[in-house]
Amino acid sequence: MTVELPAMPVEREHPLDPPVEYHQLREEQPIIRIRFPSGRTGWLVTRFEEGSQVFADPRMSARRPRHDIAAEDGVDPHDDGATGVLDPGFVFMDEPDHGAYRRLLAGRFTPKSVQTRLQPYIDRIVTEHLDAIEAAGKPVDLIEHLGLPIPCLVICELLGVPYADRDGFHHATEAMMDVSKTQAERDDGARWLIGYITDLVAAKRADPSSEGLLADLVRTADQEDSILTDKDLISIGVLLLFAGHDTTMAMIGLSALTLLTHPSQRQELVDDPAKVGPAVEELLRYLTIVQFGLGRVAKEDVEIGGQRIATGDLVVVSMPAANRDPRAFDDPDTPDFDRKMTRHLAFGYGVHQCLGQNVARAELRTILPRLFERFPGLRLATPLDEVEMDTYGTNYGVRKLLVTW
Ligand code: HEM
Repeated sequence: MTVELPAMPVEREHPLDPPVEYHQLREEQPIIRIRFPSGRTGWLVTRFEEGSQVFADPRMSARRPRHDIAAEDGVDPHDDGATGVLDPGFVFMDEPDHGAYRRLLAGRFTPKSVQTRLQPYIDRIVTEHLDAIEAAGKPVDLIEHLGLPIPCLVICELLGVPYADRDGFHHATEAMMDVSKTQAERDDGARWLIGYITDLVAAKRADPSSEGLLADLVRTADQEDSILTDKDLISIGVLLLFAGHDTTMAMIGLSALTLLTHPSQRQELVDDPAKVGPAVEELLRYLTIVQFGLGRVAKEDVEIGGQRIATGDLVVVSMPAANRDPRAFDDPDTPDFDRKMTRHLAFGYGVHQCLGQNVARAELRTILPRLFERFPGLRLATPLDEVEMDTYGTNYGVRKLLVTW
């Protein structure tokens, strides 16, 4: 008789807290065999130290099944043929291949590069969007007016994508991320985006004076001995458009919701805007939007936290659970902007740690203090339990955040 494995917790009791079952799992079974929403089975790791070990261990491969954790309509998680049309690129590669690609991009994502090339642009568009919110009149949906357009504009600026094309690629990325859509619908979105980036690469190549990361990459690809093929350029373009968009939108919406429902933390930020650095780090930890965690596959037998993991096993680190581990963070369920924190797992850890983290930080650090400074009376226009959450997406987020002032 086969015993059915327990299911991964998904439902939340409170919109800003991970599922309550994680408390018990972390204490009693921190590494447990579980059934993921996709139907696949594997290990779930819920403690901070052990989760960090999984990400840092080179025996843990990022070459994981395409459909490892989230449930997706019409996808058999065990059928890797049904992977859709998108090449996941270097996110799913191991060393040394992964590093060779990542190094080609890294220079554009350092704190210094973000500060000099993007911060003035972010300052400008945030001011413009706050002006537009004021002009639109109340109530306003902060997702529509801030969370959606700012990350989209920033990624367009970084890549050198015309913002005029935003509607097309926003719909395409939305379709691709929506786990309630069929695989065929998601593939349509991916095909549109691939076609779009293919045309853009051709346009950049035809114009030697073109600017932005994509144009730089086209020039690199055209040098002798470059590892970059046109297929790589397209996969990197799609990856960046995709990775930088939905994630930051989710963090903007959830951070605003947290501050709207935590008056003392909000007041701290208003009284001392210089606190925004630690405040954003704490919000990243507290909210940890990559809600189902990240998967890795054991390349050989490995022991993690006293548990033997066999070659080929899928291991998923729940960053939302690990980032609320009381062994690593005192009073983890309270957002504390004075917390002494050296690191968290919201951006992952190890060689794949988020390449765009400084871009996301720059956006959040600019938006949050200015939003509450501009609208001192800002408050939710609906009761908290009526705020529409994106509960089943890869990134947890707020669908609509109606506010008034
Ligand atoms: C708050 C916003 C964001 C969050 C929470 C987030 C989260 C993450 C996480 C958890 C990973 C690790 C994936 C893994 O280990 O398999 C990752 C990787 C990545 N992220 Fe982000 N991300 C955010 C914003 C961005 C932005 C703005 C960009 C681009 C401008 C970006 C681009 C990437 C890329 C390219 C990777 C792959 C890195 C690699 O495999 O070496 N992300 N992100």
